[in-house]
Amino acid sequence: METVTYIILVPMVYVAFAVFFIGTTVRLIKIFREPRHPSTLQIFPEKRPKWLWAISDTFLFPTVRRHKPVLWVFLLAFHIGVFLLIIGHLELFGDFEIFQIIPHEIFLGKGFVGLVVAISLLYFLFRRFTSPVRELSVPEDYYLLILLFLIVLFGSQMDWARRWYLYGELGVEHYRDYLSSLLHLSPELPIEVTDTGHSFMLVLHVFFANLFLMFFPFSQSMHSFLSLPMNKLRRG
Ligand code: HEM
Repeated sequence: METVTYIILVPMVYVAFAVFFIGTTVRLIKIFREPRHPSTLQIFPEKRPKWLWAISDTFLFPTVRRHKPVLWVFLLAFHIGVFLLIIGHLELFGDFEIFQIIPHEIFLGKGFVGLVVAISLLYFLFRRFTSPVRELSVPEDYYLLILLFLIVLFGSQMDWARRWYLYGELGVEHYRDYLSSLLHLSPELPIEVTDTGHSFMLVLHVFFANLFLMFFPFSQSMHSFLSLPMNKLRRG
């Protein structure tokens, strides 16, 4: 069991990030090298400044807001949640003054970031069981949403246990020792990370996260890198 834990928490993380970065870069180069679309993708009437409209299209989803307001609320909640999760994970490496503009305990959000993201993922998943979205969905959509939900569930569980149920054996200082040892390429697993009651949650969280990072370059999640350039094309 110790070997499996070590493989998931150390080499598999390195492989996952390597596949994520190399795979995403190669895919983006391929996409941007493709010949330009013969006809314009620009939408009219033109609105200025074009870059601002492209940014608002990308991050405020105006079309979804007009046609599917409930989906829009969950989309916004999910993407803001992901943004906060990125900050939250960076803070698991060390303190960043800039992120403490609003003073907070690590993991930021008192466990509610994970909760909101988990509920949004459940909404995205269940809406795919009803028509017409069901007919438009492919198996990959379900796998990706279930995988993301499992990552978020185990990540949040760790925080909820610590914050809401005062579980103290596995904490931020142990995560920091583990993650900064990974970053400095001299991986070490503190005993608390491998031998406490909640170690299995960290192992499952990281295992599913590694799978997601390895699938990412070959999945529809690539839209996250392409939607801004696409909206810029649409806005001219
Ligand atoms: C796709 C990638 C990932 C996603 C979506 C994700 C998501 C999450 C979520 C939702 C939380 C809980 C936030 C909250 O409490 O509100 C969390 C916590 C955490 N994640 Fe991740 N995570 C990812 C990758 C990783 C990786 C690769 C590692 C380590 C190698 C990691 C380590 C942690 C740790 C240590 C916590 C802290 C738990 C606590 O506060 O007790 N995560 N993550």
